[in-house]
Order: sequence, then structure tokens, then C-alpha cells
Amino acid sequence: MLVCSKTKDTGVDLKAVILVGGEATRLRPLTCDLPKAVVPVANVPFLERFVAYLHSHGVGDVILAVASDPARLERYFGDGRRMGVHIVYSPESRPLGTAGAIKNAERYIDGRFIACNGDMLTGIDLTEMLRLHHEKQAMVTIALTPVDNPTAYGVVETDGVQRVKRFVEKPPAAQVTTNMINAGIYVMEPEVLRDMPANKFLMLERDVFPQLLAAGKPVYAYQSQAYWIDIGTPEKYLEANSLLISGEVPVGISYASREGDVLIQGPVAIHAGGRLKGRILLGKGCVIGEGALVVGPAVIGDNCRVGEGATLEEVVVWDGVEIGSGAVLRRCVVASESIIGEGCQVLEGCVVGSRVHLGRGNKLDRGVRIWPGRVIPPETISF
Ligand code: GDD
Ligand code: MG
Repeated sequence: MLVCSKTKDTGVDLKAVILVGGEATRLRPLTCDLPKAVVPVANVPFLERFVAYLHSHGVGDVILAVASDPARLERYFGDGRRMGVHIVYSPESRPLGTAGAIKNAERYIDGRFIACNGDMLTGIDLTEMLRLHHEKQAMVTIALTPVDNPTAYGVVETDGVQRVKRFVEKPPAAQVTTNMINAGIYVMEPEVLRDMPANKFLMLERDVFPQLLAAGKPVYAYQSQAYWIDIGTPEKYLEANSLLISGEVPVGISYASREGDVLIQGPVAIHAGGRLKGRILLGKGCVIGEGALVVGPAVIGDNCRVGEGATLEEVVVWDGVEIGSGAVLRRCVVASESIIGEGCQVLEGCVVGSRVHLGRGNKLDRGVRIWPGRVIPPETISF
């Protein structure tokens, strides 16, 4: 069944191409055995959250432009029905770049469409952006967001009526004239694709946008102050989880019950002597032991066990994790089914992959990363 929805402003079916490329190496070991799209953010796969955002603005059809084999993504997301959209997969035999990937998906596009990078979460008002695009009769409208250091992004200069004057991808600091950068969300007319060569590596940022601007085409910008965050690094990943559960941004966090700041997603067992403080998302089936302390912001997946006297502070823990008694976890991420032994410490920026067995008394600090499936004997690591 094709589930279609109408855009709020134009009344036509709206399609979105999401660019899913890259290996997400900076997020390893979380992405060693899982595509980044499936990495959970506040206990829901990242891409599912992004699709829900698009859907809330009228997107009914999603085209996943995938730089590699789409099989793993298809296994998780299927035809999208569960998320209320229809998903098709547009694979590339080799990465074609941000523009080449959209050109490669042209057969699915039949009108005005959304294109977006698949590596951020945002509250940018797409409905307003579509309205601006329509009003300006733009060929492309680019969403802009402010950042502190624009040199790692596409810097976009506009004039007084929101028309884009210049687009410079990753400029040297001396050339930065504004802190408004390309947020990686575009409204496009299909004409943009017409003159692009097929099956050729092409980037929107370095090839297409500069060419359109040089040709005087109507390229506009939608400036937004809404939240915008990527999950490129473990640090950003922790930040994104905290933001989503904070209640400060309008994101659907589902939970079955709530005790103060603690959002509980199903039946759990919290020992009378266990304490939960601050904003916490607690998955179903979790057991919190006597004397254990969880301090938010913290996200804990389903079926985790937090042992007696263990302390968890500002952490993200995926499903089925076992944390031994007296262990201390602070500002770290632990992936699914891992076992953290008694008295272990997993601190500042550390990332433990899935199915790791960390023997008792190990101490991980300063961003140490443990690859999936590793077994670390007791008292082996101490830094
Ligand atoms: N299908 C496909 N094929 N997708 C690709 C390819 C490709 O060959 N290359 C990149 N992508 C996807 C990435 O997975 C990501 O979702 C998006 O396109 C952007 O690529 P990145 O590699 O993440 O680019 P970036 O972060 O350096 O810069 C881009 O994003 C910034 C905002 O985060 C640019 O669009 C900048 O202008 C922008 O400011
Ligand atoms: Mg990126």
C-alpha cells in the first residue's frame, strides 16, 4: 500500500530524497555492526526519527539514496509502512556524491521535492520553508542554521530578500563572512536535475549550487533558529540524546508512565533503595538495583540491569546491557548486550561496542573505544 500525504501548502504529494552515504567511521564502534541510520537516539533508530520529522511536514514518500548496498537498511525499515510512509531504495554502484545520488533517484521524482542529508536531526519548519520556496518561485531553497565555527560546513551568503548570493563549501576561516551555514535540507524543483549528467560523481555543494548561482537561477535561503544537531561523533551523539529527552524540543518521546523527570517505557523493577535523578528515559524491562544511582540526562534501553550500588551519570546505554555492582559510568555510551563487570569505571567519552564483556575492575577513561564482541579480562585496562 502506498501511503501518501499532502503537503500543507500546495496540496500535492511530497517526496523526500534522504542521502545516506558514508561509513560513519567517527561513530565507531557503534557503527561497526550497525548502519548509522539504525543507531538509536532516545531509544528509536535515528532514521526513524528523521522520517517522523519529514512525515510531520507532509512527506509521504521517502527515497533513500544509498551509497552502498541497501540490504541492511531494507531489513530494518522495509517499505516504511510502520512509519506511515512509503520507502524506496535508490542504491549507487559507487558513491555518486550528494548531487549524483539525487540524479540517480530521478526516476522516482515527479515534481517539487525535498532533498536532505541523512546525518542530522532538526526542528527546522519545513512547512514554512516550502511556503517561502513557493512564494519566491525558487528553483532551490536551502535551509540555513547558525553555527559557531562555519569552516566545517557550507557557508551561505544571502541578500536582504533571502536570495542566496554565494555558497562556499568548507571555506578557510579568512573567507567566512557569516555564521549561517547549509543545514543540509533543500526544497528543489525537478528542473535542477534535468541538466545534470547521469552516473557521474557530482556534489550539490561544490558543483551544482555554485553553477546555479553563476547562471543567476533563483536560489533562496530559509533561515532557521530551530535546533539542529548531527550525530557525527560520540560527543554529539550524547548531546543529541540529552536534547531529545530534555523536553526542550518538540520530539515524540513515547513512554508508558512518568515519575517526575523519569520517563518509563514499560514495566520496570526499581529497588526501593535505587535512585533516579534528573531527566531519564528508561526502557521497559529494566532492573535498577539497591543503592544504584542514575543521574540524568540519561537514556537506558530495554531490558538493562543496573547492579547494586552502581552509578550512571549522563550516559546512553542500549538494550540488554548488564552493569555490575559498584560500576561507575559517566558521559559514555554502551551498545547492546554488553556486560560491564563489577567495579568497572567507564568514563569521559568512552564508547563500548555491542556484546563486549568487560571483566571486573577495568577502568576506561578519556574516549577509549572497545570494539564489538571483545572480551576484556578482569583488571586489564586502567586509563
Ligand atoms: N547516497 C549518497 N551518496 N549519499 C552521500 C554521498 C554519496 O556519494 N556522499 C555523501 N552522502 C550523504 C552523507 O551520508 C550525508 O548524509 C550527506 O550526504 C552529506 O555528506 P557529508 O559527508 O556528511 O557532508 P558534510 O557533513 O561534510 O557537509 C554537508 O553537510 C553540512 C551540514 O551538516 C554539506 O552539505 C555542507 O554544506 C553542510 O553544511
Ligand atoms: Mg555530515
